[in-house]
Formats: sequence, C-alpha cells, structure tokens
Amino acid sequence: MSTRVRIENLTKNFGNVSALDNFSLEVDPGEFMVLLGPSGCGKTTAVRCIAGLSDPSSGTIHIGDQLVNGLPPRDRDIAMVFQNYALYPHMSVYDNIAFPLKMRKESKGNIRKKVEKISKLLEISQLIDRKPKELSGGQMQRVALGRALVREPKVFLMDEPLSNLDAKMRAYMRTEIKKLQRKVGITTIYITHDQIEAMSMADRIAIMDHGLIQQVGTPQEVYSKPSNTFVAGFTGSPPMNFLECEVSRSNSHLLFEISGSFLVRSESGALRNVFDRLYGKGESPAKVTLGIRPRDIHIRNDQERSDLTIDCILSFVEMLGDDTVLEVNIGKNSMKVLTNSMMTDTRQDLSVGQHMSLGISHEKLHFFNAQTGVRRGESKQ
Ligand SMILES: Nc1ncnc2c1ncn2[C@@H]1O[C@H](COP(=O)(O)OP(=O)(O)O)[C@@H](O)[C@H]1O
Ligand SMILES: [Mg+2]
Repeated sequence: MSTRVRIENLTKNFGNVSALDNFSLEVDPGEFMVLLGPSGCGKTTAVRCIAGLSDPSSGTIHIGDQLVNGLPPRDRDIAMVFQNYALYPHMSVYDNIAFPLKMRKESKGNIRKKVEKISKLLEISQLIDRKPKELSGGQMQRVALGRALVREPKVFLMDEPLSNLDAKMRAYMRTEIKKLQRKVGITTIYITHDQIEAMSMADRIAIMDHGLIQQVGTPQEVYSKPSNTFVAGFTGSPPMNFLECEVSRSNSHLLFEISGSFLVRSESGALRNVFDRLYGKGESPAKVTLGIRPRDIHIRNDQERSDLTIDCILSFVEMLGDDTVLEVNIGKNSMKVLTNSMMTDTRQDLSVGQHMSLGISHEKLHFFNAQTGVRRGESKQ
C-alpha cells in the first residue's frame, strides 16, 4: 500500500530569507517525484519540513490522510537518505541495516529475515560482515539505502544521495535506485540539482527557483513545454539558446529582427500559422524571446528549405566524443548548436570564422514573453 503526500502552501522563512514561498505539491502513491533546482532554492528545506526536522512557518503537510504538522520525525514513518551516508563506523553492514529494527525491538529472527531480504535486493549480501571503511562509496550508499528501506517506510526522502560518488558510480546508482523504487513501490521524493539525474529517474519533476515551484510535469513535459525561460534554461545540455527578437509580418512572410540589426526572414506557412495561433493576427510587431534547443538546430545545405533559416559565423568548435558543440555568432548574439560528430566530421569545410546557414523546424521553436519569461501558448503546469 503506497501513500500519497500532499503539501499545501508551505512557507518557511529564515529571518528575511524566504526559503519556501507558498510551496504546494502533491505526490501520488508510489510515485518517484524529483525536486530539481539550483543550490539554495529551498529543496533541503522542503524535505526537512516533510521529515519533521524543521517546522514550516505556515502551510500543511499530509502523509496519507494524516496531517503531520507538529508530529515528531519518528512518528511520520519516513526514511531519509542524505549525501553523506552517516553509517555507524564501528558496526558491520549487517548491524547498520539491522539498527532501525533493533531500535523498534523486533525479534532476532524477524530482523535476520528482513536484513537478508534487503541485502539480496541491493546485491550486498557478500558484504554483510564488513565494516563501512572496507566499502567503496557506492557500496556505502547502498548500505545506507538498505538501512532506510528495511523499515518499510511510507515515504522515502533522498537529498542529493549521489553527490559524493564519481561520475561512473553516479550513473550506475541512479539506475539502481530507480529500479529499486519500482520494485518496492514506496512513494519517493528525491532531491537533486542535476537535471540529467532528474530527467532519467523521475516519474514527475518539480522544478524550483527561489523557494517557488516553477513547473511540475513529466520529464518529457518539462523538456518539450517548459513553462518559462527558467525551466527551459535548466533542462537540457547545453541549455536552450534564447534570442531576443522583434517579430513582424510582411505580406506572406515573417521577419525576425535580432539585436535591432539582424534580420531573419521566413516564408514558411507552418511557422506563420504557429505565430498567428500564439499571437493573434492583429498583434504586430511582437517582442519575443525565442527559445531554441542546441539539438534542434541543423546545418543546412544550400538547396534545403527550412522554416527558419539563420545565417551566422562559426566561432568555436568543441568536440565531446559522440557530439560536437558549435558556437556561432548571430550579430552580437551567440548560440550553441549540438551536432552529431559523425555528421560534422564528414564536413571538411567546418572552420572557425566561416559563414554557416542553420535551419530550425517550426515545431522546435519556443516563444516566451520578453519581459516575464513566461511561455506563450500551452504549457503543462
Ligand atoms: N538554518 C538556516 N538558517 C538560515 N538560513 C537557512 C537555513 N537553512 C537554509 N537557509 C537558507 O534557505 C535557502 C534555501 O536553502 P536550502 O533549502 O538548503 O536550499 P537547497 O537545498 O536547494 O540548496 C538558502 O538561501 C539558505 O541559505
Ligand atoms: Mg540542499
């Protein structure tokens, strides 16, 4: 039986710092919810309030049907895993995992059964007699997970549990944690500042900035329909390009004027339709922030037609193995383009300083309000 977590209008102030500002979030039973946001945006404060380690200034927290405000942490039936594993150094792996059950005074036989089951699930049965100092970082983190899981809590809170691991172990453990959560089905709130972790693990992501939730949605939703420029810039790598432009209509085409000097002309009917749908036929010209993901830009060959064509100058080439990132200048603006290295390798004419022509499909353009950064058109909130 999985449990729903409902957080309503949570506010937490530290002096005049507002760490949480009317934070509301509902986590479905068995869901893997990721809180994603930059350092200092209030993620840890949110989970500390849920765990009962910190009292909110106002707002309510329900775990299942129970209002838990004021309830001490031990009565909330929550398990937490932190960045530093906090294992007891003098205890074996077995005793570390068994500890919460011993505290609950469960019978020896029962404890043995549960510890063995969890160790098997986490594939650490062979390490059971070791001390923490004889384990690798990834193994220690698995023991910490085991100790949290063995209690069969209603809710799992994880605050950046993989930050101390090296890149390879982090990638491995994120798959392991995700699989484990699927298997046990415990409602989980997982904190990270790493968008790749969030994208790859979450059923849904809540993106935060300055104590405020900016958007809640599936990884696909927040990636393809970011509700504002903050969310758009925080997902995807390299991040989305933003171009401030003034868009106007002229007969059958659209004119995109960038930095007051540079003109991009589009005769695409499809793009014209998108623009008319978003802005209405009467409105013109419109100041917009145009968002384009580096991966959604392609290098045009001369004959090819594209909805939006941007002429630019190549300023930097960065090889990343499978991918190559090109930096280009458009007037005073710069933009990043992510290309497949195989494709760029075959183009011998790629050299810094050269003119290039880039193409973007109308489906891949994001329009944001130039003043507020809010997405124009539908977005999932
Ligand atoms: N105990 C505290 N006293 C004062 N300010 C705090 C305290 N805890 C957190 N803060 C402030 O609240 C904000 C959010 O912090 P935190 O929740 O730790 O962010 P995150 O986990 O997203 O990095 C930050 O500005 C931080 O400095
Ligand atoms: Mg934190």
